[in-house]
Amino acid sequence: MLGFLTPIHSLLRWAVLLLLLATIIKSLHGIISKRSFSKSDDKISLFMMISAHTQLLVGLILYFTSPMVQFGNTANAEIRFFTMEHSTMMIVAIVFMTLARILSKKGKTDSAKFMRLFIFSLLALLIIFMAIPWPFSHVARPWF
Ligand code: HEM
Repeated sequence: MLGFLTPIHSLLRWAVLLLLLATIIKSLHGIISKRSFSKSDDKISLFMMISAHTQLLVGLILYFTSPMVQFGNTANAEIRFFTMEHSTMMIVAIVFMTLARILSKKGKTDSAKFMRLFIFSLLALLIIFMAIPWPFSHVARPWF
């Protein structure tokens, strides 16, 4: 019934990845050039967080409706991946993306803001990269 959600979830991954990458590059540039934290730095981290929370919402609906989520079927690597690994790691990554924005807003100096945004976003990117079912992984799913 909710079959349209999987392609939406799959496509949304690219929005999350692009916004995360843009946040990382922008904050790294801020650290290196020692420029001041601008409105556009604030906006990019806001959009990055919104994309993550939208993906979380779609992911949670999938979690309760997808046949890929089954408890007690740990022998099947694909089922185990979506039931445990993918969901847990993605939730941790989304917590990091949220912390990236909240903690950077609380930073007292511009360099503290950039540094917090950079570190937490980078950690989130690494986790997401490991938890996506890439076409070349053992739980291969299409690029789009
Ligand atoms: C940044 C966060 C996330 C990204 C980038 C992401 C990415 C993906 C991708 C690329 C797929 C494969 C889609 C396809 O078959 O083409 C997928 C599937 C899935 N995701 Fe996520 N995901 C994220 C967060 C979550 C969260 C937080 C949950 C649940 C709590 C979740 C639950 C699922 C489930 C259950 C499937 C399997 C759907 C199915 O094939 O029926 N995802 N995800």
